[in-house]
Amino acid sequence: MSLLRVRDVTMRFGGLTANDHVSFDVEAGAIHAVIGPNGAGKTTLFNIISGFLAPTEGDVLFDGRSVVGLAQHAVASLGLVRTYQLVQLFKDLTVAENVRVGFHRVTRGGIGAALLRPAWARAQEREVTDKTAELLEFVGLSAQADSKADALPYGQQRLLEVARALAASPKLLLLDEPAAGLNVQETANLADTIERVNARGVTVLLVEHDMSLVMRVARRISVLDFGRKIAEGTPEEIKTNPEVLAAYLGGTEAAA
Ligand SMILES: Nc1ncnc2c1ncn2[C@@H]1O[C@H](COP(=O)(O)OP(=O)(O)OP(=O)(O)O)[C@@H](O)[C@H]1O
Ligand SMILES: [Mg+2]
Repeated sequence: MSLLRVRDVTMRFGGLTANDHVSFDVEAGAIHAVIGPNGAGKTTLFNIISGFLAPTEGDVLFDGRSVVGLAQHAVASLGLVRTYQLVQLFKDLTVAENVRVGFHRVTRGGIGAALLRPAWARAQEREVTDKTAELLEFVGLSAQADSKADALPYGQQRLLEVARALAASPKLLLLDEPAAGLNVQETANLADTIERVNARGVTVLLVEHDMSLVMRVARRISVLDFGRKIAEGTPEEIKTNPEVLAAYLGGTEAAA
């Protein structure tokens, strides 16, 4: 069953076509990667899927319903949650507080609940505290719970972003270049985490340049080049696809 259907999506910025009639499906339960050279349109596509941009043409169906035109928080509340290409943590909050922020959309509350602290609000707070601890354990950051997010090494900040995204109980998690800036060890650790997230029943769609990560975790890969989808298949098929090799060799980076 397809959890996400991207249908003929085109995005034009003035004269530039960032996405050109892109279609693909993400199967429920999959780890699916979108790859392509710099400027191929990967982040633009994520911006459209997550409701940050409305496409010029085309449609995005999540769980069978169109999410085009919905605000980002509305898309997130359906279970489609993303992280960003550049780390976006609250630097002055602690690691645990950053995860608590992720629960925001699934908890009720407001100023009244904070001041009067009715029984349900206290119960909910305890639940958030427990789940926060569980998520920090899951990504291996329990010992850093009370550190400022800013004080974490970059690799751990990436894991914290994953924990915060999981707090929103996603059905589909979009990761935009989660391994950017990570060393080999941190990348391997991230790959483990992505596989464990997937094993919890979360479908994963990731954009990534690090081919060691993509080839290890992705079961299916869609390739963009100059906004167009030029190939799709298993890691084995993509590795040997002549058009994909040409796109990478012709670009500014090698398919390392
Ligand atoms: N808001 C915007 N306005 C105008 N042009 C944009 C905008 N966003 C992206 N673009 C252009 O669209 C093209 C695709 O950009 P995008 O960021 O989607 O690429 P990408 O595949 O994510 O690249 P990278 O691998 O470097 O992150 C680029 O030429 C970019 O300059
Ligand atoms: Mg990008």
